[in-house]
Amino acid sequence: MGHLQITPSILNADFANLGAEVARIPGADWVHVDVMDNHFVPNLTFGPTMVEALARSTDTPLDAHLMIEDPDREAVVYAEAGCGSVTFHVEAARAPVRLARELRAHGARASMALRPATPIEPYEELLPELDMVLLMTVEPGFGGQKFLDLVLPKIRRARALMDKHGVETWLQVDGGVSLETIGRCAEAGADVFVAGSAVYSADDPDAMVAALRETAQA
Ligand code: DX5
Ligand code: ZN
Repeated sequence: MGHLQITPSILNADFANLGAEVARIPGADWVHVDVMDNHFVPNLTFGPTMVEALARSTDTPLDAHLMIEDPDREAVVYAEAGCGSVTFHVEAARAPVRLARELRAHGARASMALRPATPIEPYEELLPELDMVLLMTVEPGFGGQKFLDLVLPKIRRARALMDKHGVETWLQVDGGVSLETIGRCAEAGADVFVAGSAVYSADDPDAMVAALRETAQA
């Protein structure tokens, strides 16, 4: 397994002070930004203008997670806004191969997310087109939900498919990741870990990032 990466989500940070909130986690590999449109998920966050401002405010690369209904039309805007990685949901994408290629052409890492009940097997052939697969370990929409253990076998199967195809695709988990659950995810084969409330409810968020990394590596 290569280098494990921690990508804190700012969803549960103070939205009135996002620049300062990101500055509290200098040890993060990426900053995970959850874009929600109130249609794909029943929650609304922010759009490309805010993401672009955030990208300008930090040297840490942004990892955009688009929980939106029309990624085919809108995802590339987040690459143009300066995100180093852009994740679209396969349940929403009409042409995931074309979309992944467009994202790469715009200089971003192309990533595809699956809700907890969406199987990975139908998308096996897409793996070479993708820089990362995100397996949701809660239903997307809100921070602070309980980790779904039922996704662990899918993490294992996704890792096995990546090994079979010999691809360098990263495997990210998002939802309910904490000191208690990160070890199970790493053991199953995940190598990129989103953590929202675990990081931003900690007294020292950057120390929590380090602790999560250490626990995942153990
Ligand atoms: C949920 C978002 C997550 C969220 C995770 O739909 O995609 O990134 O911020 O929050 P926690 O870590 O609290 O489950
Ligand atoms: Zn997310």
